Parts: sequence; C-alpha cells; structure tokens
Amino acid sequence: MGTLSGKRALVLGVANERSIAWGIAQALANEGAHIGLTYVGETLERRVRPLAEKIGADVLGSCDVTDDGQIEQLLGEVQSQWGRLDVLVHAIAFAQRDDLTGRFVDTSREGFRLALDVSAYSLVALTRAAMPLLCESGGSVLTLTFAGSERVFPNYNVMGVAKAALESSVRYLAADVGPDGVRVNAISAGPIKTLSAAGIRNFRDMLHVAEERAPLRRNVSADDVGRLAAALAGPAGHGVTGQVLYADGGLSILGV
Ligand SMILES: NC(=O)c1ccc[n+]([C@@H]2O[C@H](COP(=O)([O-])OP(=O)(O)OC[C@H]3O[C@@H](n4cnc5c(N)ncnc54)[C@H](O)[C@@H]3O)[C@@H](O)[C@H]2O)c1
Repeated sequence: MGTLSGKRALVLGVANERSIAWGIAQALANEGAHIGLTYVGETLERRVRPLAEKIGADVLGSCDVTDDGQIEQLLGEVQSQWGRLDVLVHAIAFAQRDDLTGRFVDTSREGFRLALDVSAYSLVALTRAAMPLLCESGGSVLTLTFAGSERVFPNYNVMGVAKAALESSVRYLAADVGPDGVRVNAISAGPIKTLSAAGIRNFRDMLHVAEERAPLRRNVSADDVGRLAAALAGPAGHGVTGQVLYADGGLSILGV
C-alpha cells in the first residue's frame, strides 16, 4: 500500500508529458492517490485525456485560473465527484513572451498584472476555494517556484517577481490555514525543459550551466520533483508547512 493510498489529489498544470505537473501526477498515483487533472482549452484537452488514461485519472474539466467562476466550478466538480480533497497541486505560470526577453525595466503594466495574476494570485484563489474540502482531510497544497524569485536570471524578468510573490503567498497562506490542519509548501525546481521553459529566451544556457555547476552535476527531472512532491504530500511531510524546498541538484547553495 502506498503512502497516499485512498487520497484524492487535484493536479493543475499538465500541458503534456514533459510538464512538471505530469511528473507529480505520476508520482502521486504511484503512491496510491487517485488523481484529477484539468486543462485549459481544447488543444490541451486532447493532450491531457490520453495522459489521464495512463494513470486512471479523472479529467475534471477546463479551468482557466484567471476566472473565479471556473475555479468555483472546478471545486464544485471535485465536491460532487469525490466528496473530499487531500492534495492540491498548483503547477501553473504564464507571462507574455515579450516580457521574458530583454530588460525587466521595459515590462508593461499589463504584462506585470497578467504574470502576477496567473502565476501567483491563482494560488490564493485556488486555496481559498479548496479550503472547505481540504480542512476536512488535513490536506496539503503544493506549488512550483524557481530561484529567479531571489536572484536575477537573464530573461526570467517579470516571472522572477511573480515567483517572489508566489513564495511569499505560500508563507501567508500557510499561516492562515495551518490552524485548520492544512499545509502549504513550494518546491523550487532547477531548470527542466518544458513547454513554458521554451518561452524563456536562451533557456538552454540555464540547463547547461546547471548541469555543469550543480553539486550533483546533472539537471533534475520532472520525476525527481514528482517524488519530492509525493513525499511532502504524505506522512514524511506532515510537519512541514510554509516552506520552499529546493530540488535543483544543489545549484542554489553555490555562491559563485
Ligand atoms: N520548467 C522549469 O524549468 C521550471 C523550474 C522551476 C519551476 N517551474 C514552474 O513549474 C510550473 C509548471 O511549469 P512547467 O515548466 O511544467 O511548464 P508547462 O508548460 O508544462 O506547465 C505550465 C502550465 O500552466 C498552465 N497555465 C498557464 N496559464 C494558465 C491559466 N490561465 N489557467 C490555468 N492554467 C494555466 C498551462 O496550461 C500549463 O499546463 C510553473 O509554475 C513553472 O514556473 C518550472
């Protein structure tokens, strides 16, 4: 029996088989959790449905996290199909391509608003909507972040600011919902080649540098992140909340 046997996990952010959310969904399923996936739009639905079949997951519908109505509808679906929720995974980020190149100082007001809304505020909105279910089961919320929140990475720009807001939101949310027995954490992953990462100019350089310099001398995979996520969601993580845990081969400990 796995450590998450009988648990229900809602995973947002699977776009394809390279998605970090997909690595997490598989790891949670391997530990016995029943998974629910969402998608945004018909194109992604066509990619998500065959993946869901592979792990016996439910596809709970489309959810654009900028729309409170869609978030409510999704959690309503979880309530009616499952009647409980133990794990909520937020693996979502977006910024306009123009804002992931050139100088941060040129970020537009709208580009800033959009990146912060999709990539940070959505965690607050989803956690609030999921709380009635999560607090019954002593649930766990997990999001994904990157070291660009604290240090400057070329072209990461507005997404670094969004990740700083996201990490701070993890701490404030953890303090709010902890008394109800709900935990909120983030995993800060090293660079992984995914659809979103392809939108960051010269992302390949980040992969090369990480592989060359990280103490483990390799890049991490979505599976590495998934196994950590499963541990955090299970009994190993029961005393952990409000934290940002690095899964980056040790890259973040280096000074130079
Ligand atoms: N790839 C990396 O190097 C890396 C490193 C650290 C952290 N992260 C973070 O991991 C998370 C997952 O990204 P990924 O790299 O797996 O890429 P991905 O492209 O596979 O996943 C991003 C997901 O965000 C979803 N999304 C975007 N806008 C949305 C919206 N309005 N509503 C709902 N969903 C929306 C997309 O549909 C997609 O499924 C992101 O938060 C990303 O910043 C990625």
